[in-house]
Amino acid sequence: MKLTDDDKAMRDGAEGPAVAAAMDLLIRYGEALDAEHLCDVRNVAGTTTQPSPVKARLVAEGGWEKAFSVINLDADFDSYEALPIPDMKVPTCQLQQGFGPDSVGIAPYPEKFVELQSDAEAFYGRRGVHILATCTPYQVGNLPTRGEHCAWMESSAVVYANSVLGARTNCEGTASTGAASLTGRIPCWGNHHDAHRLGTHLVRADVPVSGFRDWGMFGYFVGELVQEARPVVVGDLARPDLTELKHFGAAAASSGGVELYHVPGVTPEAPDVETAFGGTVPEAVGYGAAERRHVYETLNDQGSCTDVDFVLLGCPHASLDQIRAAARALEGRRLHSGTQLWIMAPRALKDTADRSGYTAVIEAAGGKVLADSCPAMSRSAPPGTKVFATDSAKQAHYLPAILGIEAWFGTLDECVDAAVTGRWRGGL
Ligand code: F3S
Repeated sequence: MKLTDDDKAMRDGAEGPAVAAAMDLLIRYGEALDAEHLCDVRNVAGTTTQPSPVKARLVAEGGWEKAFSVINLDADFDSYEALPIPDMKVPTCQLQQGFGPDSVGIAPYPEKFVELQSDAEAFYGRRGVHILATCTPYQVGNLPTRGEHCAWMESSAVVYANSVLGARTNCEGTASTGAASLTGRIPCWGNHHDAHRLGTHLVRADVPVSGFRDWGMFGYFVGELVQEARPVVVGDLARPDLTELKHFGAAAASSGGVELYHVPGVTPEAPDVETAFGGTVPEAVGYGAAERRHVYETLNDQGSCTDVDFVLLGCPHASLDQIRAAARALEGRRLHSGTQLWIMAPRALKDTADRSGYTAVIEAAGGKVLADSCPAMSRSAPPGTKVFATDSAKQAHYLPAILGIEAWFGTLDECVDAAVTGRWRGGL
């Protein structure tokens, strides 16, 4: 792999041992990928603060320096010295993490992890990590420009950055984002190259795709179909808003591994179908009534008992419009005595929802707006939950396996109805 003089200087220790370890990691990573060189990044979305038993042990042994050295720089677990960690070289934000202090007593999440995380926030905040604490950093001001090379983790954020923002990132990991933070470099391969951003599959909606639920279901279909390839979607599509694109991408990244899609006339690198493919347009695969029903049944095949204990909204983390819509649906109503409702949101948007009065309406009904995390990330749902309902295809896909609970998937109104009645009454 071709290295610049700066790369070599970092590798040889000119900026200290942590940066040298970071560059060594990036060189090994880039060579394994056959990347020809590294590219500059100035926007990293990674994870440093999320607690875990391993992290707790490392912090007890050698402080946050040891935790960062082992987890974020891939240093040897037992023998490595804790490296002094300098400030982040390029803007870096923390993605979703564990639940915070204001969730104690609501989410059953270990208090020792809440404390560990607060400590981590102080350590990394001093080194320049923006503690956005959300899987949707693009909703709270972390917006790369079109064409900008980034190093992001979190599949739903990566697919949004590539597709909706036209930024360029692969789905990075904890170690590669840690190394990118300290060097401002990442291997230049995959989604960083023009040729890897062209469409591979054409998918045509033959039934109307309109509204949050249907964009999620269509995304789920597309992901299952193309797996890790790059779909271009056309057909009977109502113009999606950003919330629907967020759901579409998260669903496609869950049923498959989609990191980039194009909606001609909507997403920035696809003014038309031909441009999206860079020339020859393949034959389309149709998404009709039978395919739509199949997706719906797949997303609901973990549900059998219609008594709902828990309703979860906001995956990926809710937009302000979604929080407001939930507040309107809950206004003047009261949750069923055996059912809880949580809406997951970025903390900055929760603050705005508080000021706008939406949170008060949701809380008056008995619901909660929570920040920083989600049940899947923190493995935490209301105690005793056996059956949950959600409007998120991604949560319906993952949470039953993570928590061993049943799932129902439907619209916001169906979910709110379940929260108020304690019964699932949704349908296609
Ligand atoms: Fe975000 Fe959790 Fe969903 S991290 S994308 S709310 S699974």
